Amino acid sequence: MDIESGSEPKFKTKTSTKAEPALNELFLDSLRDIYWAENHLVKALPKMIQAASSPKLVQAIENHLDQTIEHVSRLEVIFDMLGEKAIAKKCDAMEGLSKEAEGIVEGTDEGTATRDVGIILASQKVEHYEIATYGGLTQLAKTLGLDDVADILAQTLAEEKKADELLTEVAENEVNYKAAEEA
Ligand SMILES: [Fe+2]
Repeated sequence: MDIESGSEPKFKTKTSTKAEPALNELFLDSLRDIYWAENHLVKALPKMIQAASSPKLVQAIENHLDQTIEHVSRLEVIFDMLGEKAIAKKCDAMEGLSKEAEGIVEGTDEGTATRDVGIILASQKVEHYEIATYGGLTQLAKTLGLDDVADILAQTLAEEKKADELLTEVAENEVNYKAAEEA
């Protein structure tokens, strides 16, 4: 059996002529979805900054707000590269995650480390959702041969991962032990 046979593709997708437009459409739809999510976060994060007490946590969320604004414009660059209008399509997952965050704020007392812990938990769920999304989209962009787009998505992916790590650090070093004292 041939392992590599020169320039011949190793395998062909049976439905290649049909599959690619569908995959392109899926990719575009997913971009519209995360575009909605990022725009939603730009509005939701200030509420979390308002509700948080730990200066380190406030700073971490403030930094992420700046990054999120940048993520929105990166997506606009991508839409532009693809010759598409930047359209936001409601992301039910992000809406749910941010409702959950607001619920945690409502259910905890102002100025407590317990509320901060809740905000971190909710924020990390958001980060993980974004990491999953950008990870998948980066891969899909590569599959579609959109290497420049993949590079931009990978940049955002790296920042989401960093933001998640930062939240873990704040929880471990700053907030969790204080919350345990409140118990
Ligand atoms: Fe983001």
